[in-house]
Amino acid sequence: MKRVFIAYGTSEGQTAKIADFISDVVRQHGHDPTVLDVKGAMEASLDGYDGVIIGASVHMGKHDEHVADFARRNLDTLSRVPSAFFSVSLAAHGDLADAQGYIELFEHETGWRPDKIALFGGALMYTQYGYIKRRLMKKIAGSKPGKLGTDMSRDYVYTEWDGVKRFAEDFAAALTDEGPSL
Ligand SMILES: Cc1cc2nc3c(=O)[nH]c(=O)nc-3n(C[C@H](O)[C@H](O)[C@H](O)COP(=O)(O)O)c2cc1C
Repeated sequence: MKRVFIAYGTSEGQTAKIADFISDVVRQHGHDPTVLDVKGAMEASLDGYDGVIIGASVHMGKHDEHVADFARRNLDTLSRVPSAFFSVSLAAHGDLADAQGYIELFEHETGWRPDKIALFGGALMYTQYGYIKRRLMKKIAGSKPGKLGTDMSRDYVYTEWDGVKRFAEDFAAALTDEGPSL
């Protein structure tokens, strides 16, 4: 059994849901996961963990700043143990060049080169947004015809859970002696 640290940064909650899902899969594979929102755990120590997974959502073209800070603070450990990053954005649902661009910026700003990277579609939570955010997101969604929903009376979730499962399974398997490397 390996100890896996799963840290995430979220604004509206979708990245937290994905982190919890990843934690469940890692546990089902016989490992011992710890999940933390970096906002309340900036000083958390990665000592004693055999693998680290970090996730962040994208807002206004950038990944969560708390997550970038957390990665920078822990660069030493992240370069020593198997590590993976997952990025959550609407661009991951159809605008892959943009989604890839966010990753490149994040790697540049943090200096962290994860062993494995995944891009996951996020969510449009119209029913949870305030008035201005709802209007803004409808405008952005409407500028991408056919890709994103614009009915503000409902939410849209673009996360493909099968892909999240595969990502977590691959990471869990690579931590054991039998698994392929990341
Ligand atoms: C105000 C706002 C700005 C956003 N900006 C971007 C963006 O620049 N690029 C993108 O791909 N997605 C963008 N998104 C979509 C979020 O990445 C998506 O809603 C994601 O699910 C948020 O994850 P979280 O709930 O964990 O914070 C934005 C969402 C909001 C509400």
